[in-house]
Amino acid sequence: MGGRKILLIIGGGIAAYKSLEVIRRLRQRGFSVGAVLTKAGAEFVTPLSVSALAGEKVFQDLFSLTDESEMGHIELSRSADLVVVAPATADLMAKLAGGHANDLASTTLLATDKTVLMAPAMNVRMWNHPATQRNLAQLRKDGIVFVGPGDGEMACGEFGPGRMAEPNDIVVAIENTLAASSGALAGVKALVTAGPTHESLDPVRFISNRSSGKQGYAIATALAELGADTTLVSGPVALEAPARVKLVSVETAQEMLVACDRALPADVVVCAAAVADWRPETTAGQKLKKRQNGATPVITLAENPDILATLSHAVPRPALVIGFAAETENVVAYAQAKRTRKGCDWIVANDVSPGTGIMSGDQNRVHLVSGDGVEDWPLLDKAEVAHRLAARIAGVLKGRTA
Ligand code: C5P
Repeated sequence: MGGRKILLIIGGGIAAYKSLEVIRRLRQRGFSVGAVLTKAGAEFVTPLSVSALAGEKVFQDLFSLTDESEMGHIELSRSADLVVVAPATADLMAKLAGGHANDLASTTLLATDKTVLMAPAMNVRMWNHPATQRNLAQLRKDGIVFVGPGDGEMACGEFGPGRMAEPNDIVVAIENTLAASSGALAGVKALVTAGPTHESLDPVRFISNRSSGKQGYAIATALAELGADTTLVSGPVALEAPARVKLVSVETAQEMLVACDRALPADVVVCAAAVADWRPETTAGQKLKKRQNGATPVITLAENPDILATLSHAVPRPALVIGFAAETENVVAYAQAKRTRKGCDWIVANDVSPGTGIMSGDQNRVHLVSGDGVEDWPLLDKAEVAHRLAARIAGVLKGRTA
């Protein structure tokens, strides 16, 4: 994603030092970086450090004759592909939420026609204050994108949400946001499976598992946000249909396979469903009754079709087939073996041991296993795993470095 320009607005917070690292990493990845340093920001980092790392003059004053003759604030705000505010202080958030324009940073934010990404950083009480939360809600409604803040110990000694996202996470968010605003998967057909399957014993009982469908739904959402024409084949879950996604609801593994077949051909397939490995060989037409003599029924199981393996061998084969591996031990080794056995390209492996809370929780720690090796991702929200995965898919399908 080189050759693109980021305008970084550095607000006044102790986290401003991390913004220097953001600039360094962006430059390494081929971005050019213009910087606006607020008056308060200049109390934490010097204009010299910022311009030395950015390789460009740093802008500070709204009413600077030199700045205005070189580049007016309107042009400054529009010459970039993305405007990033890091650290985004409570004050900068409030100013934009309220539409204020009384310095270079706020004027630039109001004048831009580009997406704005904010990395908030402030004391936990300031973050939790109803005024900040109100501003956050307003800014989200206005289309501002956020990365962080994270939880942790703060420079002021307090603990809780308010820590600015780490530089690497900000850079990833920048790449994801750029990919989203450029429709990186426009013209791509995507198929995602999600949720458990229900395998009926009789009209009221079934065999199933604890899958919530959250990860698969988040992936379908992230692919659609990048412009992919996305079909989501879902087992029974308690989730709302994602926007811009064609949802096909099924119950059983056999129905899931039929629905997937109908959605082909596809360029990318992501099998996130926890398909039941077995189904009862027969499904009783009427509810099974307890027997007088106390004898328990014997359930004979039949193996379900392997949807991932089937789609990995579809003709024409999707350019990229991705499976999941939920394991409770030897996570990566089992995932590598699964990748070969099923014939897919990548496996997203995760540890679903009872203590991890991953199976129905909102976070996931995954390992991306491909032919090139294994990448260990940090603990992330399932939505963030989905965004990163979608950006990687765009990288492969559209030949971009995501
Ligand atoms: O074999 P295992 O269930 O561990 O494999 C998990 C991967 O295979 C997941 O991507 C899952 O969606 C897919 N799968 C499938 N059909 C099955 C079983 C698993 O698509 N019957």
